[in-house]
Amino acid sequence: MKAIILCAGLGTRLYPLTLSMSKHLIPLANKPILFYSLEMMRDAGIKEVGLIIGEKNNDIKDAVSDGSQWGLKVTYILQQNPKGLAHAAKVAQKFVGKDPFVMYLGDNLLKEGLTDFINSFNQNKPNALILLYHVDNPSQFGIAELNEERIARVMEKPENPPTDLAIVGAYLFDKNIFTAIDNIKPSKRNELEITDAIQYLIEKDYVVQPHIVKEWWKDTGRPEEILEANRFMLDNIESGIKGTVDESSKITGNVLIGEGTEIINSDICGPTAIGKNCKIVDSFIGYYTSIGNNSLIENSKVQQSVVMENGTMLHLRDQISDSLFGRNVTLKSFQGKSAESCFVLADHSFVKIS
Ligand code: G1P
Repeated sequence: MKAIILCAGLGTRLYPLTLSMSKHLIPLANKPILFYSLEMMRDAGIKEVGLIIGEKNNDIKDAVSDGSQWGLKVTYILQQNPKGLAHAAKVAQKFVGKDPFVMYLGDNLLKEGLTDFINSFNQNKPNALILLYHVDNPSQFGIAELNEERIARVMEKPENPPTDLAIVGAYLFDKNIFTAIDNIKPSKRNELEITDAIQYLIEKDYVVQPHIVKEWWKDTGRPEEILEANRFMLDNIESGIKGTVDESSKITGNVLIGEGTEIINSDICGPTAIGKNCKIVDSFIGYYTSIGNNSLIENSKVQQSVVMENGTMLHLRDQISDSLFGRNVTLKSFQGKSAESCFVLADHSFVKIS
């Protein structure tokens, strides 16, 4: 079975981060979100993946290449002017061919993987199998209503959701989904919604079945969701110290420290991941923090945050918490020489100062 992974969305809810990088490459526990999906495809026995990318996603090609590092054959499919999930599926029709396929949203994380989902599809052979998850905020998702073994109705982000069953970003379809896509119209947000295509299948009496997620599922569209997903991923790491830790430093909990990294007179509290060639001096790195390669942190405290590669934090008076920093970000204090603050921030930046 082939899979398509949708990566062409603009990631506007993550601006300014996603103005300079694809959201699917944002690291969680120092590994890009998309890599977790590719591992999951490999583990589910998928061999061929179509990565649907936009014109600005060349960084995905650089990071994933031909997919051989996961034992996958990756084909890139260009979706110009992303016009919705159903549009993305349509763009991939030639790649998919006539056999059933997995459609997966590249910014989603699914702990239990896809094996059970695919097995259930192969056993029952419905026309579509839709992954669902009970959520607290159903009006932010596509929602499904069930009738015994089948899905009776789906709707996209309803104001008054009739159920709490969100449509997760994983779908299994047979070729009839393409007929459905050909018969739907753009939605209020001017997108061809996959939810509308599924509703078309239901109305034409195709068999559309639910599959409920047993463990956790996470959509990573917003900054707070990235931090939460980072925490989930850090909860699953095992300690591994490849760099050096001096005698006056203290490491507690599960901590990953990459090659060439030096920890000097610092407290590192896991679960935490520190990349390669970093220098952490006279600092406190609290739990649920990921620090990217080549970062320098001196005389500062940071916890529950993601600092991407080449981050610099020097002599910060206040502890940094619940924060998300892109690549090459510098934060430093004037060390008492001035009470003024100075910023160079990109469009849509967000700063909260105590
Ligand atoms: C999309 C789908 C929605 C689904 C969600 C899952 O929403 O349209 O049905 O519940 O993904 O992440 P979007 O992220 O485009 O708002």
